[in-house]
Amino acid sequence: MNDHRMVVEQTDRTIICVSLNSAIDKRLLVPGFRLGAVSRAVQADATAGGKGLNVARVAHALGASVLATGFAGGGNGAWIMRKLDEIALRHQMVAVAQETRVCLNIIDESAGQSTEILEPGPEIAAAEKAEFMALWAEMCKPGQWLTLSGSLPRGLGEAFYAQLAAKAREAGAHAVLDTSGMPLKLALSSGPHTVKPNEEEFRQCFDADPRDRAAVRRIAAQLGEHGVQALLVSLGREGCLAALPDGRLWLAAPPAIDAVNAVGSGDSFVAGWTVACSLGLDVPDALRLAIAAGTVNAMSPGTGQVSREAVDAMVDRVQVTAL
Ligand SMILES: Nc1ncnc2c1ncn2[C@@H]1O[C@H](COP(=O)(O)OP(=O)(O)OP(=O)(O)O)[C@@H](O)[C@H]1O
Ligand SMILES: [Mg+2]
Repeated sequence: MNDHRMVVEQTDRTIICVSLNSAIDKRLLVPGFRLGAVSRAVQADATAGGKGLNVARVAHALGASVLATGFAGGGNGAWIMRKLDEIALRHQMVAVAQETRVCLNIIDESAGQSTEILEPGPEIAAAEKAEFMALWAEMCKPGQWLTLSGSLPRGLGEAFYAQLAAKAREAGAHAVLDTSGMPLKLALSSGPHTVKPNEEEFRQCFDADPRDRAAVRRIAAQLGEHGVQALLVSLGREGCLAALPDGRLWLAAPPAIDAVNAVGSGDSFVAGWTVACSLGLDVPDALRLAIAAGTVNAMSPGTGQVSREAVDAMVDRVQVTAL
């Protein structure tokens, strides 16, 4: 096992990216794929996946110092850590007894169809959860930027992000939260610095229309009472609405592009926002970097694989308007 303290002492300007339910994302190209029959794949590849690792990879590509953390189990967990090593992305994972999951995407290009099968992932034991909480307590330093992304593995309880966000706030660290459903709802009153629902997550969580600007302003003000400093509602190709508790509101819009694959655009957006915040950029400039990263991700087939040059070139094409 790693020595937690040694790594954490080096992480002052480092962004810590939490990936609790990482996965090996395996893609199989299977022409004529049929249920209930034997099929042969003509191509197979695999990447270290999960939303938190996408954020980590993009922040790393944007030039930030990054530390990925979460749980890693068995041979799959070791494989993921090796993949991070290959790109010199630092990680500090809590080892778990159960195996890290594999998520399978079966693509039949001839039919234009893709079939996804997501394993549930490991169930985290109480002692493993406690070990992560101890590591988290060390990581939450004043001014530290942290990202919390994706769904929770079994065993942690739906209030786990609420607990992590509360600890961060107590310590004066800044957590950027991108999740959905009950884990999102429960975490709001713990005051994460930023919450980033997409349109559907926003509707579900707040029972409001993201295009209703008065409602977005009102919700940002309510969240502000709990310590939330920015509400970012991402709107796919329309960009995002950014609302602060004091009533300021912006629309940030990308240029029209030919989208190839927008999966992971939200994660890229979170990476851009967090890198910008950690550098002390103001809100409009942070939105430019966030939108640029999300948009560049949508322009290529990969998930969370952007180049810094492409993002830099996109930044000036983002329109930020105060509303
Ligand atoms: N078709 C598109 N054209 C231009 N930019 C896009 C497009 N889709 C996404 N983006 C960019 O990425 C950002 C995030 O996208 P989106 O709102 O779809 O996130 P998301 O639904 O959370 O994605 P995911 O959870 O799959 O990572 C947008 O604000 C925008 O900047
Ligand atoms: Mg998302």
